[in-house]
Amino acid sequence: MKKLIPLIGLLAATGAAVAEPASPYPYFVGNCFNCHGTEGRSNSAIPAIAGRDKAYLENTLKAFKAGSKPATIMHQLAKGYTDEEIAVLADYFSRQK
Ligand code: HEC
Repeated sequence: MKKLIPLIGLLAATGAAVAEPASPYPYFVGNCFNCHGTEGRSNSAIPAIAGRDKAYLENTLKAFKAGSKPATIMHQLAKGYTDEEIAVLADYFSRQK
């Protein structure tokens, strides 16, 4: 049964992408809005990630995941994403204005 859970998550992600043709991006980009602001436009002490260089975002997230970049929270969060998902996140946020 446990093995089915990631599969269901994948199906849910695909379903979300199909249900919202306006956005080619999967639901998990929204996981970042709470802290980094809607679409990454932060107006708090947390750094804005909207419109930042894609390579910077991707490398930074991978560095958080690897533990080579010190962080208070992002090193934990980044571990929840595959490198492919990180590339999608970097692409999404780099395209926000
Ligand atoms: C619980 C709040 C929280 C969430 C959720 C969150 N972040 Fe962060 N993020 C932070 C904080 C705080 C920092 C500053 C580094 C640190 O202390 O962890 C940060 C830093 C970053 C940085 C580095 C910015 C810079 O200027 O170098 C990137 C990139 C980033 N986050 C991307 C994301 C992405 C993508 C997501 C969604 C998967 C996300 N964050 C979700 C709080 C959050």
